[in-house]
Amino acid sequence: MTNILMVCLGNICRSPLAEGILRAKTEKLGLNVKIDSAGTSNYHIGEHPDKRTVLNAMNHGIDVSKLKARQFIVDDFDAFDRIFVMDSSNYSDVISLARNNDDKRKVELLLNCVYPMSNMSVPDPYFGGEQGFENVYILLDKACELIAESLQTTS
Ligand code: 4NP
Repeated sequence: MTNILMVCLGNICRSPLAEGILRAKTEKLGLNVKIDSAGTSNYHIGEHPDKRTVLNAMNHGIDVSKLKARQFIVDDFDAFDRIFVMDSSNYSDVISLARNNDDKRKVELLLNCVYPMSNMSVPDPYFGGEQGFENVYILLDKACELIAESLQTTS
C-alpha cells in the first residue's frame, strides 16, 4: 500500500481537490492506496472545503464536501510515503519540519510530476474567481493522472 498526502496552505481549496481527484482515479484502477490532505496553516482547521472547490469537484463528478481541513504535522512524515505540495511556500514550510533527509526526500512539488524539474506551482485560487478553480482542476487532474499511472505499475 502506498500512502500519499496532498498539501497546500489552507487545506480547503487545492489539496482537498487533489485528494478527491486522485482517490477517484485510484479507485477506478482498483489500486490499494491511502490518500489524505493537509494544510501548512491552522487557518481553516475543521472546516469543509471552500464552496467553490466543492462545486468545481461536483462538476467533475467528485464529492469532496465531507472532507475536513487539518494541519500538517511532523508525524505525517512517518504516515506517508509521498508528500505532494502545491507551491514553493508549501514546500519550504513542510521541509522546515523535516527531521532528516528521509523526510525531505518524500516532499515533492506536485507539478514536477507533469513538468519535471520545472518547479511550477499550482496557483492559489482562494482570492480569485471560479475560473481559477477550474484552472487548478485541470492542473491537478493532469498530475493525478500521471501519479495514478505510476502507482499502477509499482503496486
Ligand atoms: P488552499 O487555498 O491553500 O488551496 O486551501 C487557501 C485557502 C485559504 C487561504 C489561503 C489559501 N487563506 O488565506 O485563508
